[in-house]
Amino acid sequence: MPTTDRAGNGRITAYGGVEELWSLRDDVLVENGDDGSVSLTSRWGDLVIRRPGAILRESLHRMRLGPVSLANVRELGDGSREAALEQAALLAALDRLQHVVVRSLRAVDSEPVLLSAEPVSHRSGFRPRPLDPDVPVRMSRFASLASDGRYLRVESPLALHRVWLFRPEAVSIFAHLARARSAAAVAKLALLPADVTLAALSYLVAAGMVIEGETGDEGPVFAEETDPALRLWSLPDLLFHTRSTLGRHDEDFGATYRFGDGPGPEPVVRRREGKRFPLYRPVLADLLAADPPLTAVLESRRSARRFDRSLLTARDLGEFLYRAVRIRALHGAEGSAPGDAATQDRPYPAGGGIHELEFYVAVGACAGLERGVYVYDAEAHELVLVDGAPEPAGHLLRFARLAAGLEDDPPALITMTARFGRMFWKYSAMGYALTLKHVGVVMQTMYLVAHAMGLGACAVGSSEIEDTSRLLGTDWLAESGVGAMVVGRPPGGEGPSGFDPPARHGVNDPGWREECAGWSPDASYGAERDRHGDR
Ligand SMILES: Cc1cc2nc3c(=O)[nH]c(=O)nc-3n(C[C@H](O)[C@H](O)[C@H](O)COP(=O)(O)O)c2cc1C
Repeated sequence: MPTTDRAGNGRITAYGGVEELWSLRDDVLVENGDDGSVSLTSRWGDLVIRRPGAILRESLHRMRLGPVSLANVRELGDGSREAALEQAALLAALDRLQHVVVRSLRAVDSEPVLLSAEPVSHRSGFRPRPLDPDVPVRMSRFASLASDGRYLRVESPLALHRVWLFRPEAVSIFAHLARARSAAAVAKLALLPADVTLAALSYLVAAGMVIEGETGDEGPVFAEETDPALRLWSLPDLLFHTRSTLGRHDEDFGATYRFGDGPGPEPVVRRREGKRFPLYRPVLADLLAADPPLTAVLESRRSARRFDRSLLTARDLGEFLYRAVRIRALHGAEGSAPGDAATQDRPYPAGGGIHELEFYVAVGACAGLERGVYVYDAEAHELVLVDGAPEPAGHLLRFARLAAGLEDDPPALITMTARFGRMFWKYSAMGYALTLKHVGVVMQTMYLVAHAMGLGACAVGSSEIEDTSRLLGTDWLAESGVGAMVVGRPPGGEGPSGFDPPARHGVNDPGWREECAGWSPDASYGAERDRHGDR
């Protein structure tokens, strides 16, 4: 049975056919200080080793240049007791630097490195240990294989390392890891000598790409399937979560402008061609005089599920779009340098002022506007006709009816798309997540504006991007649906009619909803609006 070395610091000493190699991440700088110290500069900051021994100093400089066997570092390989002590001290020192140390394996009788485990977090720790040959192993369902254009890498949102597979023989191990097998069985099947495969497996287990199970009555059991938190996650969801946040990856993050200094592929405002329909503009004084108070709106707002298809007007849509999503100002010049790039100001907030969201209106029944699909020009405050045929609008409205559980097609549907290029030009890693946050911000803004106006609204969280892109005339990769809002007027005198779960246990002043419903638009806003008449 193989064993770890005495220091217990994650070396595999007993797999005869392999050599372990050590190097530093490519982005680590090693510098000697005037005071005898050595400093390591990495993406996670500076680390100063005040009094490194000569061997640690030499090892670090050599590891900076590429993978080295510690046995080849001066004086460590002669088998003497002093050399063994020096080596133990070196391993102890390297153990504290695990977040910048890349660990590689090579078969002793061949030159090329088989695979490497590279740390991706300042918390990464790598302590491979020899495997029990009888233990069931399998590729983690969260691990995935991808190419960087030269090599295959294995990554997992659960792992704080990425594994590089440099040789086909190393890749071949994964061919036998789709289902659970004993480590010994995998070693027998793979293209490499058994001890090399076992060493590689122990690296893959330590890196989190391969999981060890337990033998249960009904076959192998893996914690990945039984862990109460983990079993709920899918790979795409967990990958998106870990990659759109900081902490578990080493990718660039935030406003990096990684494509260069240009203005990006998307203009600050997309000019629209087509037949235009100027929209009603509300008067601020009217709104200030007639709007229900914020608390009344917040407390009595519901998702509306019933609409009277004869009540919605073009004036309603004009006022609604103006108050919720129009452009209030443009900042910076188009084509200006990054950091000073053109941005927008709208009633709802958006990260970086990018405002990548566009609003398409599918009109089903609206006095003053023909049925059809329109796009909102938020600068001109006009609708521009995209398609006046009945079917595109009908398709979008039907989808919304099903998604929102409505009895009938809604009078209007506002589909939000994102012009991804505007986001991705600026932001690395967090761009798409930011767009989804914007959708939520817009949804709440629309809910509140609609309710203040006496309209009913219901958010639609599921988007169908193939049909929607075809119907809106967009390339789904450049611009596609990310959310939608159903809008209409509830049947006469009725406020928005939400679904209440069967057992609703009110807490924290549940009666406020009814009290605030007294501020219904019929009682206040409607009367005020009638005095001003249609504009
Ligand atoms: C982001 C988001 C997505 C939603 N998606 C849907 C949806 O697809 N279908 C639906 O019927 N309701 C949807 N809703 C409405 C919720 O079901 C509703 O807000 C919830 O039941 C609470 O009811 P209330 O809005 O009346 O307070 C969504 C709400 C939000 C905020």
